Amino acid sequence: MKKIILLFSLLMGTLFAADAGNILYGPWVHNVSETGFTVIWIGQEPSLDYVEIAPEDGTSFETCSRPRYYESRFGKRVTGTFHRVRIDGLQPGTNYRYRIVGKVVKDDQNAYRSVYGPERRVFGNVKKGQRPYSIRTLDSRADTCRFSIINDIHFNDKRFTALASPIDPAKTDFLVLNGDIVSYAVSIDTVIKHSFAPIAEQAARIPLIFVRGNHEGRGRDANKVYDLYPTSTGEFYYSFRQGPAAFIVLDGGEDKPDDHCEYSGLADYDNYRAQELEWLKKAVKDPSFTSAPIKICLIHVPTFPRKGAWYGEQWMAKNFMPLLAEAGIDVMLSAHYHDYIAREAGVDGVGYPIVVNSNTERMDVVVTASGIEINTYDQQGQLKHSWKK
Ligand SMILES: [Fe+2]
Repeated sequence: MKKIILLFSLLMGTLFAADAGNILYGPWVHNVSETGFTVIWIGQEPSLDYVEIAPEDGTSFETCSRPRYYESRFGKRVTGTFHRVRIDGLQPGTNYRYRIVGKVVKDDQNAYRSVYGPERRVFGNVKKGQRPYSIRTLDSRADTCRFSIINDIHFNDKRFTALASPIDPAKTDFLVLNGDIVSYAVSIDTVIKHSFAPIAEQAARIPLIFVRGNHEGRGRDANKVYDLYPTSTGEFYYSFRQGPAAFIVLDGGEDKPDDHCEYSGLADYDNYRAQELEWLKKAVKDPSFTSAPIKICLIHVPTFPRKGAWYGEQWMAKNFMPLLAEAGIDVMLSAHYHDYIAREAGVDGVGYPIVVNSNTERMDVVVTASGIEINTYDQQGQLKHSWKK
């Protein structure tokens, strides 16, 4: 009988230790800084969840009670299927393991007594020998900055997985999604499915940097896309620093004039870009930007003053381009044209180089204080293009 009890205990222990699986999509990580990051995931059923954090210091997660981070609004914790938890108060350049724990809402009709299922760990378990799920915070004192860029996937899950799979989280500070990962945002559920499921393993281990493409602004649920990628400014334009590199992320909005019939009267991008321009004027004067040896601009549609340029391109060439050139941008990394394009500084009067990644390649970038090295790889892992400065 004792043996049966022991066997039962061991079995239950194993079951309880396993992830209980209420997660439908995610987690993914956005808005990483030197002291924090935001973990986001979608549950299958409404639940009350939290995140536990432990430094990757060789200790067991169970060594002590680990700090818990909740999603709260106005003093009250949030239940539902969309979860977004901010982790703060961390050290720069440090790996933090994280786990998600939660309980499913069984009955919340009574204002004085909610009923929940048992509390379970829903994410964070790893098999023996597998690296724990951890995120490394940014560090302005780091010697190098290493990142990858993928863009213009347009719902092609297979290509997305093939390009993202070789990325090694241990050697990558962040993964830039440089716009048009989806073709439209008619349903936010579809956006979530195609943006995170194909890169689930990478998104749980590498912070994402989202650059909005013109296509992510299309469709009924376009205004819900920001919730998937919260930023330090509350906008799709923001800046951050990693090691020797300072980054300006810009949002070019739509490519045609606001009154174009395709937008059904919904576009207000002229006002939005004007507001963004005012922010940019201040961002390029910030000491964390001006002190960086290397300055990079990430933007979906590059600032080409090309012949036959569409309205959005013309606006950016006229307004963003002179400001970025004056700020000493070392390279602009872009997307949109579904082709690899490299233009050196001076071409068509642009005061900085522009490198556009193709829709079928991944761009791997290494930045040190003395330069930038870019290599692009296709879905088979073959080196396609190289660029250096
Ligand atoms: Fe595009």
